[in-house]
Amino acid sequence: MKIAPSLLSCDFSKMGSEIERMDKAGADWMHLDVMDGHFVPNITFGAPVYKTVRKYSDKPYDVHLMITDPLKYIDDFANAGADIITFHVECDSPIDETIEKIKSRGIKVGLVIKPKTPASAVFPYLDKLDLVLVMTVEPGFGGQSFMADMLPKVTQIKDECKKRGLDLLVEADGGIGEGTIAQAAAAGVDVCVAGTAVFKADDAAQAIEKLKSLCK
Ligand code: DX5
Ligand code: ZN
Repeated sequence: MKIAPSLLSCDFSKMGSEIERMDKAGADWMHLDVMDGHFVPNITFGAPVYKTVRKYSDKPYDVHLMITDPLKYIDDFANAGADIITFHVECDSPIDETIEKIKSRGIKVGLVIKPKTPASAVFPYLDKLDLVLVMTVEPGFGGQSFMADMLPKVTQIKDECKKRGLDLLVEADGGIGEGTIAQAAAAGVDVCVAGTAVFKADDAAQAIEKLKSLCK
């Protein structure tokens, strides 16, 4: 299991050192939530901010775009140093074109599904993707409760990939902590985003280690 701490739960006044803290604590990826106040009812930061913090870790930066028109901003996030870009299948941009745009910049690409969206919504694109992100809360805020009823979607996506001989990662995001990660692992999740559970822990390294051990 890979753990991707969500910077949404960090102290924004010292984002650089928060990233260093997560890097040293054993984070596998850095998860950066981008919200536009339109696709979701919250606003975070955009590419100019993330560009300034790219230098604080060599780990992959996993950018989760919760924005209405991701296609317009792919170049900005590519230039800011994104390694993985995920965007929502429910967005307004043309999906195929956005996937191609991300790939053309040499970046790994994933589609995200909100809780009300079925797994089958990403099936037409599976052959072109590196990963699928299944939301286990309504996107917009950290610290919400894990929706265990989203896990069958993970299994459905894994099964469909297996059928087609595809090797995709499935990521889960929202409400993941000590009490919920084992269920995610059992469903086949490869990467867990964790905001509150890691950033608000007294010892982030211990928290990450504990989360990983609960998956075994
Ligand atoms: C929610 C974000 C998540 C969030 C997770 O819209 O996509 O990445 O920060 O935070 P926790 O782990 O606190 O639920
Ligand atoms: Zn996220």
